[in-house]
Amino acid sequence: MEYMKNLKRIGVLTSGGDAPGMNAAIRAVVRTAVYHNIEVVGIRRGFQGLIEKQFMSLQSQSVSRTVQLGGTLLKSSRCPRFREKQYRKIAYDNLREANIDALVVIGGDGSFRGAEDFLEDFKDYHIVGVPGTIDNDIYGTDYTIGFDTAINTAVSAVDKIKDTADSHNMIFFVEVMGRDAGFIALYTSISEGAEAMMIPEVPTKIEQLCSYLQTERRQNKTSGVVIVSEGDENGSASEIAEKVKKILPNYETRVTTLGHIQRGGSPSCRDRVLASLLGNGAVEALRKGISGVMIGQINNEIVYTPFREATTRHNEINKYWYEIAHILSL
Ligand code: F6P
Repeated sequence: MEYMKNLKRIGVLTSGGDAPGMNAAIRAVVRTAVYHNIEVVGIRRGFQGLIEKQFMSLQSQSVSRTVQLGGTLLKSSRCPRFREKQYRKIAYDNLREANIDALVVIGGDGSFRGAEDFLEDFKDYHIVGVPGTIDNDIYGTDYTIGFDTAINTAVSAVDKIKDTADSHNMIFFVEVMGRDAGFIALYTSISEGAEAMMIPEVPTKIEQLCSYLQTERRQNKTSGVVIVSEGDENGSASEIAEKVKKILPNYETRVTTLGHIQRGGSPSCRDRVLASLLGNGAVEALRKGISGVMIGQINNEIVYTPFREATTRHNEINKYWYEIAHILSL
């Protein structure tokens, strides 16, 4: 493998929704680069910062005591302007002017799409991606940075909700995040023994949901939790609860939307380790002259997936796990 000899300075940015562990990934990028005598420039606010030249020099001590912090010290944004070629050109000129030879983009599939478009325009440039999103929906890695923390947050919240559900014989509809993917809902449902889950990957009619609930009732269950993924085709948890109430008017229903608490907080040990390995892997890939790929981890091995694949395919839930969740909730 030929090493990129002229790699003197790299940029790092976080883009899209923040995810716990992004700081650990930034730290790993900085420390690995410093180890190899490569300078690091932090780009604030994702692609927006590239366009607006929001650059800051990062040293080893800049990332001290950040591994345990949620959010992203570089800040993040979703940047619609980056879809336009004229803004990508400004970004490219800014990078060249600052002598930034290559870039690490930490984010989700939207961020990798931006990186892919940029590399289409400027084929001489080098970018690698690191998957950071709580949704776990990115193809090319077993887990994304932030997912483990998010499911632990969701599970501890539902533990609390179940106390009230049990005390008052209520059915709670708990909405979890995951724009197009049911991973958070699936893991939370299995962990909680939820009565049912509503996820985009397994379309479930409201009547079907009601018959699950009635079966549970017949077996002397007096309370329960239904986990609703925000991407479910039947609508939000409130909409689903309303539809259920029309069919089963005797049910005492309540709705909780967990929302952005799932994105915050100190990253779990697993997320810190994953972020550290992928951040390190990103710099090692750039040193080898590799570009246009996302760095992932599959079966504990670092793997490279072309942006094209990472953005057009999706991590798929294991349908068998869905069935198991149902069996165990009976
Ligand atoms: O992609 C991460 C995510 O948290 C999704 O689960 C959710 O749909 C979306 O971001 C929310 O985005 P925003 O914070 O921009 O409303």
